[in-house]
Amino acid sequence: MPTLLHIDSSPMGGNSISRQLTREFVRRWRSVNPEGTVLSRDLNAFAIPVVEAAWVNANYTPEQSRTADQKDLLWLSGQFARELLKADEYVVGLPVHNGGPPASFKLWVDHTVTPFGPRLDGKRATCIITAGRLCGPGSGNAARNYVVPWLRTLFGGLGLTNMHFIFADGTVDTNPARSIERPSWRRISRKFRSFSRTLCACDGTRDPGPHSHPNDAQNVMRQAE
Ligand SMILES: Cc1cc2nc3c(=O)[nH]c(=O)nc-3n(C[C@H](O)[C@H](O)[C@H](O)COP(=O)(O)O)c2cc1C
Repeated sequence: MPTLLHIDSSPMGGNSISRQLTREFVRRWRSVNPEGTVLSRDLNAFAIPVVEAAWVNANYTPEQSRTADQKDLLWLSGQFARELLKADEYVVGLPVHNGGPPASFKLWVDHTVTPFGPRLDGKRATCIITAGRLCGPGSGNAARNYVVPWLRTLFGGLGLTNMHFIFADGTVDTNPARSIERPSWRRISRKFRSFSRTLCACDGTRDPGPHSHPNDAQNVMRQAE
């Protein structure tokens, strides 16, 4: 039975757009994989510790020589790696924060993507990227989108090459003629409805091809190479 790992990193709780989209993805995934298992990892559920020298030294200490304290220090990193290994595919909600991923996601990466990190060959990942400005493929800011190449390089190093990127960008209206920044809810909810319809199109009984798998909403939201 397939296992999906659902990762969220937005600090915005119930108001988060990326969380709404990953939730919808999971709902559709469950409907086409009724026997499947969904694991959840909310990167804002607690403060992930910053990586410090003791953690690095513990990592480079051979497993059989580690002290009890070193084992404790590495437990969380091991848990993140175990979740990645257990799942067959991942859906990740990733808002852009200052041109990169949110701090919680960066910390999760620091704990997980190490020279001793898990091998993820054959797995599949869908990253749903939200951003205040338009920054996806085809937009004026596409060249300033550092998140996609960063993710590809990091996870490619662990063997994860089957990566799909869905953009729900331009979520914030920054036009100075208007009084305050506000999410372009109408535009996002239009995308969201189409996203749901695309996910609906998959019956899960066969390889549905590029336009009907729940993970492939590229007709709806622009998708990176
Ligand atoms: C700390 C912070 C930094 C941000 N930096 C950027 C940025 O560099 N570029 C951008 O397009 N949007 C930026 N935004 C806007 C968010 O990416 C945008 O509101 C997104 O829709 C948030 O997704 P969420 O609702 O899932 O949290 C930033 C938001 C926050 C809170």
